[in-house]
Amino acid sequence: MPEPDNQRADRQPIRLADYRPPDYLIDAIELSFDLNDETVVRAQSRVRRKDGVAEGTPLRLDGEDMALRAIAIDGEPLTGDAFAVDDSGLTIHNPPETFTLEIETAIRPAENTRLEGLYRSNALYCTQCEAEGFRRITYWPDRPDVLARFRTAITADKAACPVLLSNGNLVSQTDLPDGRHLTIWDDPFPKPSYLFALVAGDLERRQDSFTTASGRQVELNIWVEPGRVPRTAYAMDALQRSMAWDETAYGLEYDLDVFHIVAVDDFNMGAMENKSLNLFNAKYVLADPKTATDTDYAQIEAIVAHEYFHNWTGNRVTCRDWFQLSLKEGLTVYRDQQFSADMRSAAVTRIQDVKSLRARQFPEDAGPLAHPVRPASYIEINNFYTATVYEKGAEVIGMLATLLGQDRFREGVRLYLQRHDGGAATCDEFVAALADATGADLDQFNRWYSQAGTPELSFETDYDAGAKSLRLTVRQHTPPTPGQPDKLPLHIPLDIGLLAPDGTEIALRPDRPLELREAEATFTFADVPADAVVSFNRGFAAPARVSAAQAPESLALLFANDPDPFNRWEAGQRYATQRLLDWARAFRAGQGMTEDAALLDAYARNLAATDLEPAYQALLLTPPTLTNLGEQMAEIDPQAAFAAHRHLRQQVGIRNREALWDKVRRLAGNEPYAPDADAAGRRALRNTALAYLAAAGDGEVDDLLARQATAADNMTDRMAALAVLADGDTPARAEALARFHNDFAGDAVTIDKWFQVQASALRDDVLRDVERLMGDAAFSLHRPNKVRALIGAFAANPVGFHREDGTGYRFFADQVLAVDKLNPQLAARQATALQRWRRLREPQRGHMRAALESVANSPQLSRDLYEIVSKSLAE
Ligand code: TRP
Ligand code: ZN
Repeated sequence: MPEPDNQRADRQPIRLADYRPPDYLIDAIELSFDLNDETVVRAQSRVRRKDGVAEGTPLRLDGEDMALRAIAIDGEPLTGDAFAVDDSGLTIHNPPETFTLEIETAIRPAENTRLEGLYRSNALYCTQCEAEGFRRITYWPDRPDVLARFRTAITADKAACPVLLSNGNLVSQTDLPDGRHLTIWDDPFPKPSYLFALVAGDLERRQDSFTTASGRQVELNIWVEPGRVPRTAYAMDALQRSMAWDETAYGLEYDLDVFHIVAVDDFNMGAMENKSLNLFNAKYVLADPKTATDTDYAQIEAIVAHEYFHNWTGNRVTCRDWFQLSLKEGLTVYRDQQFSADMRSAAVTRIQDVKSLRARQFPEDAGPLAHPVRPASYIEINNFYTATVYEKGAEVIGMLATLLGQDRFREGVRLYLQRHDGGAATCDEFVAALADATGADLDQFNRWYSQAGTPELSFETDYDAGAKSLRLTVRQHTPPTPGQPDKLPLHIPLDIGLLAPDGTEIALRPDRPLELREAEATFTFADVPADAVVSFNRGFAAPARVSAAQAPESLALLFANDPDPFNRWEAGQRYATQRLLDWARAFRAGQGMTEDAALLDAYARNLAATDLEPAYQALLLTPPTLTNLGEQMAEIDPQAAFAAHRHLRQQVGIRNREALWDKVRRLAGNEPYAPDADAAGRRALRNTALAYLAAAGDGEVDDLLARQATAADNMTDRMAALAVLADGDTPARAEALARFHNDFAGDAVTIDKWFQVQASALRDDVLRDVERLMGDAAFSLHRPNKVRALIGAFAANPVGFHREDGTGYRFFADQVLAVDKLNPQLAARQATALQRWRRLREPQRGHMRAALESVANSPQLSRDLYEIVSKSLAE
């Protein structure tokens, strides 16, 4: 009798409460790789028992999917009774106090479809060790609180693999007989195994340099497959700007003489911060005007910065255990967001960050997979590289910066780095360092790390005409999440403004943020005129849902005048949302959708404004996304949301026809393409206008779209037009898609846009296209970028995925199961698209649940996928 699935040993949760420090430490490891179809790995480690640990304590090493060839202690091979091997590792029963451990393993990189450990991407050998990939290379205590000095020798065929890279400094390069060669690298900084990396292959590089503030000359290399070097200029520029920014903003310099980025086509995530040898998904390195959009450029800049910033926040100080993941990720996302805000427009960057938080993290925090920023348990750690750990984690850091002030916050970060340099730390230790550096009381603040769920804030005002004072009562409440029925009040910074009825700002006394610590608190403002309008939670200082029904006139006032750019945008979103929800209800009730003249006036005024930067103006003019709208419905009704959304876009387009055409003509890019934020903003505004005209059914726009989708000199304009055409069903659509395929069929990175734009089309019949595209020569379930571009984009399609007959969900479930056989990490991440089934209306709810159940009931699910589907279905 097999064990019931949920009893299997590899499916038991691992708990933070069970954390124990390691019994044995390893100070240094010498690794040697003989790269071949069967790669032989020799590891020689200096092991010592920790002080106070009893003699006879066994040594446990993690290891999976390897052949153990040899094992010896101090040169003596171990006999069979001295150790035991099982599916997840190896135990040495009674090791000496200090010793040299030698282990030889054999692995097969070309058969590694999980892309964890050592694998092949095209003709390259590369590694991905975070979180637990190193255990697929050799037996080792694969946990972040064991830090060792790594020395790595790589032998390979010189013709196939002329470039051999690992962490740290180059020690030597030697030619060997039989056309092979040997390269040795040494990394002087102790690191956990998850930061180990190796790359071997035929690579070309862009080389440049950076001189640090203290005068260290750093060699910078961006390595790519042959022919791609011209597309690495922007990534190099972003790297140099990141290095300079970390010196100015935080006083942090780079600490080695060389820094590499390597771009690979097959990668489970965006990029990886391995010490001095960052590995990147090629999508986040390669850019030129013809193949990359403005969004791609911005993402490349942010991700290059993110991985570089990890050198301090992640590598010099790492995490004690994986429950502390947000210690490095939340902090590093916060840092890359600040960098982007400084490089671009702070207001635009903030709005985009909040949009992403709301699109990805809020739903997660309100669903069956909700977990705290510092999770208390996990089954598979790969499932916890989530929007909560990353983006809510960054918001938590941002609140600390707001509470302390930016200068004191940065002093606190520097104390944290000094205290823990070369070691592994916890989230508690981070907050303690900030408190010690500044004298602030952050005890209650720590609840942000342990309590899941998005807090809900509401407010009420009470005006005393005699005293001319305004009382603002604020309440907070955090709803229950799985395993956490009752929540305690959080310590929340609140930035609040008041606008007079004529739209002018009323100066408030406190210029520090207000602080909310109780479930309810009242703040009184003096010298306030009657009918002042509250601008609540400016800058989105608190990552909360705000449920206060402000009158449309108040929202219109804020939408036209709020000097806080975030809240000005937010007011427009709230106003449009109220109307969209009304229209969606009308659609369901079979009634007509009305017109809201005041809303259209508000859009018209913002379109006419001349004092706004174009990128920001484009955001003001963009209504809430369909997904965002669905989130605000009592039950998500994809068809009604779409109908209401289309109505709004039509109305705005028809009402503003002249002004929109004026924008389109005046912003027509006659200057050569430049990826800077200002030029990108002009393109964004122009393409926003174009999309409105198309929504309004303006006949004149068709030609323009057709030309732009085939002949624009830059990918931003081309994709913007193609996305509009893709929603329709014209000959121009087919022509533009064919041209795109013709132009980029051989370009593995760019062709993904062709998959994605078709899978994202707002059409009922998109499933038919997706099924057909699965047969395209460029598609493969083995390649994460392809799966994300086609299957992932389909599951994010707010219309085509949610067909009332449930076929979209069923198709998707089948693909998830197929991917699970190859790459469980990818399958599990895709499967999260099914987590929100309870929020949907019928019949979609039942269909999505059935799709989840069909996955859950399939045999031989990976641990990764098992965790996602079982939690998604749990009562
Ligand atoms: N640490 C990486 C980051 O910068 C995340 C990452 C890259 C990752 N590859 C991974 C996480 C593979 C898990 C598995 O955010
Ligand atoms: Zn990171």
